[in-house]
Amino acid sequence: MGKLLELLSLLSHPVHHCVIVGDFNSPHINWSKLSSFDKPCGKLLSFITSNGFSQHVTSPTRHNPDSMLDLVLAKSSTIWDLKVGELFSDHRLIHISLAISKSTKLEVKKVLCFKKADYKIINHFLACINWTTLFKDLNVEEMYQKLHMQNDSFVD
Ligand SMILES: *[C@@H]1O[C@H](CO)[C@@H](O)[C@H](O)[C@H]1NC(C)=O
Ligand SMILES: *[C@@H]1O[C@H](CO)[C@@H](O)[C@H](O)[C@H]1NC(C)=O
Ligand SMILES: *[C@@H]1O[C@H](CO)[C@@H](O)[C@H](O)[C@H]1NC(C)=O
Repeated sequence: MGKLLELLSLLSHPVHHCVIVGDFNSPHINWSKLSSFDKPCGKLLSFITSNGFSQHVTSPTRHNPDSMLDLVLAKSSTIWDLKVGELFSDHRLIHISLAISKSTKLEVKKVLCFKKADYKIINHFLACINWTTLFKDLNVEEMYQKLHMQNDSFVD
């Protein structure tokens, strides 16, 4: 639990809207009093309070009516609505609506997966270029530009 909380603390620190959901297996917390009855639960509680999170689940999430193990932690006003729904295993479904406007842009970063590259085709493609002709009479900068331009004809 300690290592996990350390990591979550690191990842969530610079983020304004952050929701963490999961079965934390921490039954020994009184959520209305924000007090804990054992050490691991105390660690979770202090992670929550010291990182600006609040815990949003208020009713049992298991068939055992005392059991509230599945938690939703969020910073400030991120959660719009939360309902604990029907049992789908020994857990109940938790519906969460977020109060994040649609204009909040997700930052999508495209990363090439070199492990899955088709090196046969890449090598064939590279071998089909007459580099001597291509680079004839060019300086290094121009060669670099030209090299880069080759990728356009390579992409589908
Ligand atoms: C949690 O604390 C509240 C307020 O002090 C109390 O009424 C309630 O019985 C406690 N719940 C448990 C499970 O101890
Ligand atoms: C590349 O082109 C040059 C001159 O245009 C030619 O002499 C050479 O044989 C060509 N190389 C290949 C591998 O085709
Ligand atoms: C091809 O090179 C151009 C120019 O550097 C670059 O902007 C583009 O992202 C490259 N395309 C791919 C698929 O790597």
